[in-house]
Amino acid sequence: MKNTVIVVDGGGRGSALVDAYARSPYVYKIIAIPGNDLMALNAAGKEVVIHPELKTTSVDEIVAISKRESVALVDVAQDNAVEAGLVDKLREEGIPVVGPTRLAGQLEWDKAYAREFMKKYSIPHPAFYVFQETGKAIEFIQEQAEQSWVIKASGLAEGKGVIIAQSREEAIAACEEIKRFGKSGDVFLLEQCLVGEEFSMYAVSDGTHYQIIGAAQDHKRVGDGDKGPNTGGMGCSTPPLILTPLLTDKIKTEILDKTFAGLQTEGRPYTGILYLGGMIVQENGHDVPYVIEYNARWGDPEAEVLLPGVTSDYFTLSAGVARGDITGLDLGLDGKARVAVAGTSKGYPGDYSAVKGKRIVGLEEAIQAGAKVYGAGIKKNEQGYVANGGRIFYVIGEGANVVEARKNAYKVMSKITIEGNNLHYRTDIGWRDVERQMV
Ligand code: GLY
Repeated sequence: MKNTVIVVDGGGRGSALVDAYARSPYVYKIIAIPGNDLMALNAAGKEVVIHPELKTTSVDEIVAISKRESVALVDVAQDNAVEAGLVDKLREEGIPVVGPTRLAGQLEWDKAYAREFMKKYSIPHPAFYVFQETGKAIEFIQEQAEQSWVIKASGLAEGKGVIIAQSREEAIAACEEIKRFGKSGDVFLLEQCLVGEEFSMYAVSDGTHYQIIGAAQDHKRVGDGDKGPNTGGMGCSTPPLILTPLLTDKIKTEILDKTFAGLQTEGRPYTGILYLGGMIVQENGHDVPYVIEYNARWGDPEAEVLLPGVTSDYFTLSAGVARGDITGLDLGLDGKARVAVAGTSKGYPGDYSAVKGKRIVGLEEAIQAGAKVYGAGIKKNEQGYVANGGRIFYVIGEGANVVEARKNAYKVMSKITIEGNNLHYRTDIGWRDVERQMV
């Protein structure tokens, strides 16, 4: 069968999806929108076409390409495309699509809605308060005994819309700051600051049934020891050892069952990948899972460590989602540990403009030697591969456990540089489970 698949994404997550579809014998061509120049190297020799001139929200153009190419499937992998209603539009046109509708995806693009949903369906969540006016929020903060708050933009903010404030002064400053996000911060939330260990869990649903795929742990801060400003994700490891089978069962019954059933009750059945951003909080000697946020897509870089381990045919899985039937699919992971380390431009997440266009040295040699590297903010020109963004690429290491996987990832990373010593990466990705494994 000569199926063409469209992946709507341009980063490391999109690269991992291209790789997953390319492994399917049912797929012969992949179109990535906008895609990146490294994707073709992870496509098992399959044809990859990218469209850097388009955005993930170029709805009309994506629909037109889908028709022109008679595609078998469109995978809408990016949050802003979900908010733009790309899934709804493709469905109206009769094009098979994996991804949630705009209404189901409201769980991500409207965080105030998501918290009200959790409250309604008794899904464990921190206490929250919704505001539109900064003055009212500040007045509220001043009246509370509580000092620590999480201040969150309700709309999409490219992963930057969350500020953790440890004092009343920081919380007040954050309420001013959140308004700089423009429309995304028109509505914002003040949330109870939970203390615990975070995880990202992924489930796939066809609208009626769901299955858990796996879980990972992201590292959002730019520096070692979880120091410095938040980023889109500096690296990731899987599987998280904190998620024992007992705890996974609790997450299933207390969170996922209620989430998917609640969405059905609301008339918003969920189709596609649901990303549960959770936290395990210690309460009276028990581990209690809470929802930090929902995302209507794969995580980035979580997709980069989980998708390579999916043993079932990813095209068959996605086609089942698009058809509305994933029953009978034997979803599995290969049981290996994986660690992804992000290679970023020096200066990221601040100003990294001076690194743009600088040559990445050692990358092609590493890939030729068998390393798995997914591109993100990367371009190819006459010099070879060059930096073209904050997060440039991800090196993926695998092994029998996280210690081995991490060693393999850093072995590759140590051979790559950016001219002018402009490569930054964290050296402690997976530290929690490396410490657990060492005892
Ligand atoms: N790993 C964070 C995110 O994808 O939003």
